[in-house]
Amino acid sequence: MGDTVHMPDSRAPDFPQRVFSGIQPSGGLTLGNYLGAIKRFVEMQDSGVETIYCVVDMHAITVWQEPDALRRATRELAAGYLAAGLDPARSILFNQSQVPAHAELGWIFNCVARMGWLNRMTQFKDKAGKNREKASVGLFAYPNLMAADILAYHATHVPVGEDQKQHLELTRDIAIKFNNDYGVEFFPVVEPVIEGAATRVMSLRDGTKKMSKSDPSDMSRINLTDDADTIARKVRKAKTDPEPLPEAPGGLEARPEARNLVNIYAALSGGSVAQVMAEHGGKPFSEFKPLLADLAVAELAPISAEMARLMHDPAEIDRILADGAARARVLAQPILERTFDIVGMVRG
Ligand code: AMP
Ligand code: TRP
Repeated sequence: MGDTVHMPDSRAPDFPQRVFSGIQPSGGLTLGNYLGAIKRFVEMQDSGVETIYCVVDMHAITVWQEPDALRRATRELAAGYLAAGLDPARSILFNQSQVPAHAELGWIFNCVARMGWLNRMTQFKDKAGKNREKASVGLFAYPNLMAADILAYHATHVPVGEDQKQHLELTRDIAIKFNNDYGVEFFPVVEPVIEGAATRVMSLRDGTKKMSKSDPSDMSRINLTDDADTIARKVRKAKTDPEPLPEAPGGLEARPEARNLVNIYAALSGGSVAQVMAEHGGKPFSEFKPLLADLAVAELAPISAEMARLMHDPAEIDRILADGAARARVLAQPILERTFDIVGMVRG
């Protein structure tokens, strides 16, 4: 297992390799979150690098969350991490609001990042929509808090899906500007790890749209809480064109739905798109979809069952998050103190 993970060369060679990533507890987890993020988190943990994974509850409230729903989503996401194979003895697992360094460093970065940089963020434009005047200030400053999440630990590698690339570029810009402004080599310039066959899992109803927890159609996505029958039904009903699968990967170019199902198959099986095509190229969807459904059920149904089991004992989940937060604070506090010192804050 250990040698299957590719860690891109760090542009911060003086910093030890440390992985950080986070997911928002703002609704259920989808197959997109699983293949684009969580499955990669587990691979990195199993490769033996130091790994820190966060439930970013402070990011979630940049748009309205009912308090009880937020509490539940936080525990459910933690249960998803655990059920997928994250081990609190080998990874630090915690929720963001229990470590004040994130908000404190986030403030410093609010004063480093420029309005012009944030104005270019496509996720803000998408989420704020036409009504920018009504968006929360937090939604606008969101990428600064994300930079703080990462840099509070001097993390060097960040596994995410494709949609987070622009935010990670901003994290790099913040680190570089801070280092330049204060004449230090303090923050590492992080590497995004956007790899694997499923960095952008698409909707099962429209191969040109990202699979998302906010899509009004539940048939557009597979939820990690779906049972085996539901998963199989959604795969069987996934939109496709009438042609059989092409013989070679090149034939997927103009066929977004076919490409999406092949990518999902590759990511679930741990193989490459070329391997999937070599094995299944030329098959009609009536043959390929049941195979994909079986594969999805075999991998996801045990995770969903384990999540349900863990959710029966929320106190145990809270204990794991509190323990992770205590360990995270120990790592972040000296980095925060040194940052305050560099900036010129007097500390008693
Ligand atoms: P979010 O749910 O927006 O907090 O996203 C959490 C993680 O899942 C991020 O690394 C995203 O890039 C990843 N992710 C979300 N949706 C998808 C998708 N459809 N395909 C691949 N990765 C995704
Ligand atoms: N912005 C990420 C998302 O929506 C979540 C996130 C917050 C994150 N802080 C992070 C991801 C730090 C990686 C590292 O998916």
